[in-house]
Amino acid sequence: MKTINVAVIGFGFMGKTHTYGYQTIPLFYEPDFQVRLAAVCASRYQNALAAKERYGFAHAAHDLDEILSLPDIDVIDICTPNALHTEAILKALDAKKHIYCEKPVACGPQETARILAHPHLNSVTTQTVFNNRFTPSAKLAKEFMQQERLGRILSFRAHMIMPSNVGAQKPMRWRNSRQAAGGGVLYDLGAHVMDMLTWLAGPVASVYTKNQTAYATRPDENGRPVPVDTDDASYSVVTLSNGAVGTAEASKLATGTNTDLYIEIHGEKGALKLDFMDPNWLYFYDAQDPHPGYKKIETVQKYPAGTDFPPARHPMGWIRAHADCLYEFLHAVSENRPATPSLQDGLYVQKVLDAMYQSAQENKEIHL
Ligand SMILES: NC(=O)c1ccc[n+]([C@@H]2O[C@H](COP(=O)([O-])OP(=O)(O)OC[C@H]3O[C@@H](n4cnc5c(N)ncnc54)[C@H](O)[C@@H]3O)[C@@H](O)[C@H]2O)c1
Repeated sequence: MKTINVAVIGFGFMGKTHTYGYQTIPLFYEPDFQVRLAAVCASRYQNALAAKERYGFAHAAHDLDEILSLPDIDVIDICTPNALHTEAILKALDAKKHIYCEKPVACGPQETARILAHPHLNSVTTQTVFNNRFTPSAKLAKEFMQQERLGRILSFRAHMIMPSNVGAQKPMRWRNSRQAAGGGVLYDLGAHVMDMLTWLAGPVASVYTKNQTAYATRPDENGRPVPVDTDDASYSVVTLSNGAVGTAEASKLATGTNTDLYIEIHGEKGALKLDFMDPNWLYFYDAQDPHPGYKKIETVQKYPAGTDFPPARHPMGWIRAHADCLYEFLHAVSENRPATPSLQDGLYVQKVLDAMYQSAQENKEIHL
């Protein structure tokens, strides 16, 4: 059986989430490859060592170059803060490693161009972690869109909204700093919104965006106020190449929400809505039905077919889509083929997000 040797770079929330995927994929899929946790890299060596001992990685390091010099690494899995992604991608491409990278893939048009220009980009398997595509209800929605069940698409609304930046006393974190995050909530949550929207409804023609920063400063770890140079929320009117017009919102100022990702698409023949806080169902409206009304279609854990753990009728959890996203990548690596969504797909979303930043800055519609 083929062994895929994985190095996880960055071991916070996502480092652990991906490691959960590596450890549980054999139970979900019984694949014809096995994963070896070959190395873990954290900003502090002590943290890498703790992860090695607790989760069974073979090697611990605090330096990406050390990881890349190891003889047995096949995959670089990038889970660091956003501003470190491009350097890790470029180094991994130099070393011809397969890459699994968290969103947002890059920070700004120059970084995007550097990755796209790398000569090895198409010779390895890459994937952007757009995990929401792997929710069973999203997979069925994609099937419906491909079957043109909605007819001509006219309008849409898409948002990912949370309450996590509400309050002037919320401390400054790397996500609030442009230096570490490259952008604000538009990069962080907008990446998911624009990936889901464009994957389902088609590419973007133009954007008109207004961003909001609710608090000019936030306290640092010593309680001193530091200026905030990122957005807490972003609101766009988006026109797609197919002519449909709608709204896209990314916000951490939404009191009363949790991690509310929501996509609703309206066509001439029907409509669909995906509510990721209610992920067991796809809501579909057939305008030709003599008794119309939104139909609640059970998707639970039915997609993709072929997984039997847990059984298909059990309710869906967020982490399951992460594991499925990771499986698609590892399966592609094992078969030596491209994966979807690729780094190029992630970089397309970056172009849209950067156009949104340009629009907000220049206060005008930007055409892609
Ligand atoms: N797809 C998703 O569902 C999802 C959810 C959350 C975060 N993310 C993305 O994942 C990435 C990481 O976010 P997170 O929530 O895990 O952040 P986090 O702060 O929990 O973890 C980041 C980790 O990277 C480490 N780190 C910092 N510099 C490093 C370096 N030079 N080398 C190695 N490690 C370093 C930090 O010590 C920390 O442990 C971000 O790009 C974020 O946008 C994706």
